[in-house]
Amino acid sequence: MKEKLQLIKSEALSAIAADNADLEQIRIKYLGKKGELTAVLRGMGALSPEERPIVGQIANEVRAQIEEAIAERSALLKQLELEKKLAEEKIDVTMPAAEMKVGMLHPLTKVQRTIEEIFIGMGFSIAEGPEVELDYYNFQALNIPENHPARDTQDTFYITDNILLRSQTSPVQVRTMEKQKPPIRVISPGRVYRSDAVDATHSPLFHQVEGLVVDKGVTMGDLKGMLETFAKTLFGENTRLRFRPHHFPFTEPSAEVDVSCFVCGGEGCRVCKNEGWIEILGAGMVHPFVLSNCGIDPEEYSGFAFGMGVERIAMKYYGIDDMRHLYENDVRFLEQF
Ligand code: DAH
Repeated sequence: MKEKLQLIKSEALSAIAADNADLEQIRIKYLGKKGELTAVLRGMGALSPEERPIVGQIANEVRAQIEEAIAERSALLKQLELEKKLAEEKIDVTMPAAEMKVGMLHPLTKVQRTIEEIFIGMGFSIAEGPEVELDYYNFQALNIPENHPARDTQDTFYITDNILLRSQTSPVQVRTMEKQKPPIRVISPGRVYRSDAVDATHSPLFHQVEGLVVDKGVTMGDLKGMLETFAKTLFGENTRLRFRPHHFPFTEPSAEVDVSCFVCGGEGCRVCKNEGWIEILGAGMVHPFVLSNCGIDPEEYSGFAFGMGVERIAMKYYGIDDMRHLYENDVRFLEQF
C-alpha cells in the first residue's frame, strides 16, 4: 500500500508539472470522491492496527503534497497568463486617437433654418400643410384655372384626378386663411414635387418657403420693406432689391424679386452670371379672388405673399454649382458646410 501511495504521488506530481495540465481534472482523478487516493484510504480497513496509522499518515502527506503542488502550479499559471495579457495589451499613449465622427446639419437644413429664424424675428409663425394635397388647394383656390399649363401632368405628379403631390407651398396660404382670421403672418417651409428630370438645377423633389401676411391696409410697400429686411439679414447690409413685373395667378400685382449679387456687389461675377443680380423669389399682393375663396373680404383686408426655393438660395449662398450635390449625401461634400 505504501508503494501504491508513492506511485500515486509521483504520477500526480508529474501530471501537475506537465505543460497544459488540467489541474481540476487532476484533482478529481487523485483526490476526488472516486479518486485514486480516496480508494486507497477506503482499503485501509484491511491493514493491521499497527500499520494503519503509518499508512494513514503517509496518505495524508501525499494528499497535502498533491494539494500544495496543484495550488502552486495554479498560481504560476495565473501569473503567466496575466503577464502574457499585459504584454499583448500594451497601450501606446503617444498614438493618435481614433477619429471621432461628429454629424452636422445638412446645408439645406441650415439655410432653411436661417430663413425661418429671420422671419420668426419679424413676428412670423410657422404653418405646415400636407405634401399629398388636393387639387383644390394646390391650384383651384389659388386662382389657377382648369386649363392652366401648371396643371399639366407633365409638371405635376397626380395620384388621382384631384389628389396630387403639391407642386408649391402656396396651398398652405389657403389652408391657413381657412383656419385663421387676419391678422395673419406665417411662413411655410416644406417639400414640393414636380415632374422634372434631374439636372444641375432641377430635382423632382425640392424645398420652398412660402410667406403670407394678411391684415387691414397691407400694401406693396410693406412687402418691399419686409423683403428688404430679410435680404439684408441673409446676404448682408449692402444688399439691394429689384422687383421685376411678373405674373402669378394668385397675386396681383406680381413680381419676381432679385437681390444684388452678394459676391460682387452688382459688378458682375461668376455667381450672378455677370448680371449683378440674383433672382431669389416670387411675390405679390394676394389676389382678391384668393382672399374671397378663403372667406376673407378683399374690401376689408389685403395681403402679400411670397415664395422662394431653398435649394436655389442655398446654392447661391454657398456657391454650389450643381443641385445634385445636395442629394447625393457624399460626406466629402457635406462636411464642407
Ligand atoms: N408658388 C410659386 C412657385 O412655386 C412661388 C410664389 C410666387 C409664391 C409668388 C407666392 C407668390 O406666394 O406670391 O413658383
